[in-house]
Amino acid sequence: MRPKVYITRRIPESAVAKLRESCEMDMWDETDVPVPREVLVDKIQAVDGLLCMLTETIDEDLLTRAKQLSVVSNMAVGFNNIDVDAATTKGILVTNTPGVLTETTADLTFALLMATARRIVEASDYVRKGNWKAWSPMQMTGQDIYGATMGIIGLGRIGEALAKRAKGFDMHVLYYNRNRKENAEKELGLEYASLERLLQVSDYVCVLAPYTPHTRNLIDKRELSLMKPTAILINTARGGIVNEAALYEALRDNKLWAAGLDVFEQEPVSLDHPLLTLPNVVTLPHIGSASIQTRTRMAELAAANLLQGVSGQMPTHLVNKDVRGLTDRK
Ligand code: GLV
Ligand code: GLV
Repeated sequence: MRPKVYITRRIPESAVAKLRESCEMDMWDETDVPVPREVLVDKIQAVDGLLCMLTETIDEDLLTRAKQLSVVSNMAVGFNNIDVDAATTKGILVTNTPGVLTETTADLTFALLMATARRIVEASDYVRKGNWKAWSPMQMTGQDIYGATMGIIGLGRIGEALAKRAKGFDMHVLYYNRNRKENAEKELGLEYASLERLLQVSDYVCVLAPYTPHTRNLIDKRELSLMKPTAILINTARGGIVNEAALYEALRDNKLWAAGLDVFEQEPVSLDHPLLTLPNVVTLPHIGSASIQTRTRMAELAAANLLQGVSGQMPTHLVNKDVRGLTDRK
């Protein structure tokens, strides 16, 4: 029998075609609207594989309804939307899409850094609103990027790719990570630092850590108070890592110079969120990996992970930590 799979959003056709070849496939055929919970609750009961987005909460309650599910394939590198422990207990594999989005996400992080430092969005609005009267010496002045100090919180693949870009701008790069990475230090000329020191000396603090109970509100009032008043915070990881209320206060009170945010605790961010009232905040709609090429690669990789999972193989990009109980698979 062909395995049954459900896809929670319209994804690039090349990935759909791959699944259609060998699966009985059903899809929430919308580009911008996530699948309603009740539809997902219904669909999950009778499928062998689920290909989902970070907009779906795959919790224990949902997993309990599944009768024959063997794999949940997330089309993202982050998987904080999935209760992996509950999945493991039920013998369900969970996969993600690392690697293929690394460079694209590092590009976006650097773009957001530059846009925030040089006030690109504000300056563009300034022109369109007719405020540009003449060239003037102190108009729309920002912060230098070349030769500045960058602090990277979370030195995974994306962090390393960002460090390479920073080195091209002759930046001094510090990093804070659970484990020291001496190879990366040597190869890229990075300096390992405590979180405190990184916050104190960096001109740009870039958050690239995974979102876990340990990193929730990792950057809170105390951490923000350690940063320089000329410093800029960039978050392209997950909103919950930075306490948004504390960030708002720090920016409002000029304790911090600006922030560039691709992610929010609640997405989409509400239009009356205080952070959106500040001119020194550049906001994006969670588009770190959003290039045509990379989203196609992510969809294809998520499809490949799904196929491995439903055909009894151990998927290449498995995220379950404890795979005992899953080891009767090839
Ligand atoms: C996007 O945020 C991802 O985790 O891939
Ligand atoms: C993601 O790929 C990371 O490890 O940063």
